[in-house]
Amino acid sequence: MAQQIEKVGVLGAGLMGHGIAQVAAQSGYQVVLRELDEATLQKGIAKIEKQLARAVEKGKMDETEAGEVRARIQGTVHYRDLADCDLVIEAITESLPLKLEMWREVDEIVKPGAVFATNTSSLAVIDQAAATSRPQQFVGLHYFNPAQVMKLVEVVRCVTTSEEAFTTALEFARSEHKLAIPTKDKAGFIVNRLLVPYMLDAIRAYEEGVGSVEEIDEAMKAGAGHPMGPLTLADFVGLDTLGSICDVLFEEFRERRFARPPTLRKMLSAGWFGRKSGIGFYDYSGEAPKPNPAF
Ligand code: CAA
Repeated sequence: MAQQIEKVGVLGAGLMGHGIAQVAAQSGYQVVLRELDEATLQKGIAKIEKQLARAVEKGKMDETEAGEVRARIQGTVHYRDLADCDLVIEAITESLPLKLEMWREVDEIVKPGAVFATNTSSLAVIDQAAATSRPQQFVGLHYFNPAQVMKLVEVVRCVTTSEEAFTTALEFARSEHKLAIPTKDKAGFIVNRLLVPYMLDAIRAYEEGVGSVEEIDEAMKAGAGHPMGPLTLADFVGLDTLGSICDVLFEEFRERRFARPPTLRKMLSAGWFGRKSGIGFYDYSGEAPKPNPAF
């Protein structure tokens, strides 16, 4: 049987965390959104406020409803505010050491019955579960960017996950009107196992001169009906995140299709992380994205 969830903690108010928090608040949950510092927290909250304002503008929500959603989100820089959460979802940087350090602190503070979930894109869920005192109450809840729009949540059961925690996570995702698909705790789960090599192959196609950055993107949009071309998508996901995911997949499977192409490696050295840093395969400094002149 699923546990009752009323209050949800979200760790990290970045690209994924702010969206996860907004979706939970829109579904009626009380949300505590935790960031490292006040400035980063306010940036995340501003993104939520912007999306709520857009929803009101488009007539998808009225002002009162948007105000209620906003009021359900409590921002904090302290772990102690998560103490009485029923579910805690982490969406911090894709780094196992950082996640483990964070869970060790959170585990001491949050009430014993609460379920813990990681939004990891690729790391094995068991590696985080085992670092807590409640590996049976640990699951993966993998959202897609933008979390407010994308229908899917992969619900990951690791070897220690209890039936109750798994059912709780499935029911929680469904209560947010998401399509909850159960997956095994296998690096990349379903979507990234297929999507990451596709984006990496697009980079290799560019390296081999098959097409320009724009031609590759336009070809996949017009020829395969994708909403975004693969290089635009890589910028959208974040090239740093893509780099971390492909490293984990390569480590796990040792297959060339998961290896970092040299172009990606060099872009990361240059600090080009895609849309979030203002430059990647495209330059986002103006009104509309322009091709990065380096390509
Ligand atoms: N928050 C809330 N709503 C948003 C939004 C956001 N950040 N971005 C877009 N939207 C909404 C818009 O308001 C709009 O809503 P309406 O249709 O009701 O007006 C709708 O989404 C479409 O947006 P736009 O018209 O602005 O632009 P679009 O038609 O190009 O769609 C997109 C934007 C939804 C992002 C679309 O391009 C898309 O689906 N792209 C592919 C995204 C994708 O593949 N994501 C998965 C990445 S992989 C991942 O996340 C996993 C991982 O672990 C790395």
